[in-house]
Amino acid sequence: MRIISSAAAMQKFALQWKSAGVKIGFVPTMGYLHTGHLSLVRTARKRVGPKGKVVVSIYVNPTQFAPTEDLSKYPRDLKRDLKLCREAGVDIVFTPGDAEMYPGKAEGNYSTYVVEENLGRVMEGASRPTHFRGVTTVVAKLFNIVLPDVSVFGQKDFQQAAIIQRMTRDLNFPVKIIIAPTLRERDGLAMSSRNKYLMGDLRRQATVLWCALQIAKWLVEKSKSVSAADLKADLKKLIEIEPDAKLDYVEFFNPETLLPMAQVKRGTHMALAVFVGKTRLIDNAKL
Ligand code: PAJ
Repeated sequence: MRIISSAAAMQKFALQWKSAGVKIGFVPTMGYLHTGHLSLVRTARKRVGPKGKVVVSIYVNPTQFAPTEDLSKYPRDLKRDLKLCREAGVDIVFTPGDAEMYPGKAEGNYSTYVVEENLGRVMEGASRPTHFRGVTTVVAKLFNIVLPDVSVFGQKDFQQAAIIQRMTRDLNFPVKIIIAPTLRERDGLAMSSRNKYLMGDLRRQATVLWCALQIAKWLVEKSKSVSAADLKADLKKLIEIEPDAKLDYVEFFNPETLLPMAQVKRGTHMALAVFVGKTRLIDNAKL
């Protein structure tokens, strides 16, 4: 396994592979890897086969964090990440620094961003207005550096995956986007690097996101169609029974367009964001 931090060196490998007809599978991450990330690596390997190459990037992308968010505290453990990647059969781990990804930014002359203008307005985009601009910019740059044939994203970040799919189509990236299922802890909590912040009873309280999804599923199965406004009010009450849980949003939407739905039925998608203590957690599922 090679560890590369220069964009030019990474691109050189990718170009060599491409000219030899070798398929490239790519999993972008911000590191502090867990089993969910590793499942994406397995999917990438399956897609490119034993002769293909799998690249994982580890980069905590500053442009997707607002000034008030957890950029400086975001958990990091590169040594452990590299060990996990080696064990998972990754070929290259790309670990660029900020100067490599955003040349000139420290001097105030980095000035090109990629913006998706529709799907990114709601939910995470409404709560974190500059977030998706950072995500689309860094992923577009990573696609140009790694030159993947396929790239795997998690359903855990449903809206992110939808926006990346849209960007890939709109900007003609020759990349097949694969969306892989959410891996969960035994009690239903979606795996996330941010779960590390959940100390003591907060870890128990964090299962409230999974409970809300299960209850919504059950209600929809029982009643066929439920008013979204009523369901939102009920779920808010349920979630905020936990002493440290505060609902940021819960939305019911069409999974293709992300447009909100007034009536919730089977097949409607639900997504929610909840603060548990200071940690903001997200989850989603098809009902
Ligand atoms: P990060 O949060 O590290 O996630 C990297 C990838 O792992 C994303 O595609 C995410 O959806 C997926 N993932 C996270 N938790 C998962 C779980 N429990 N099961 C399955 N997949 C899971 O998402 C990002 O980083 C960044 O925004 C990035 C795309 C790398 C751009 O900076």
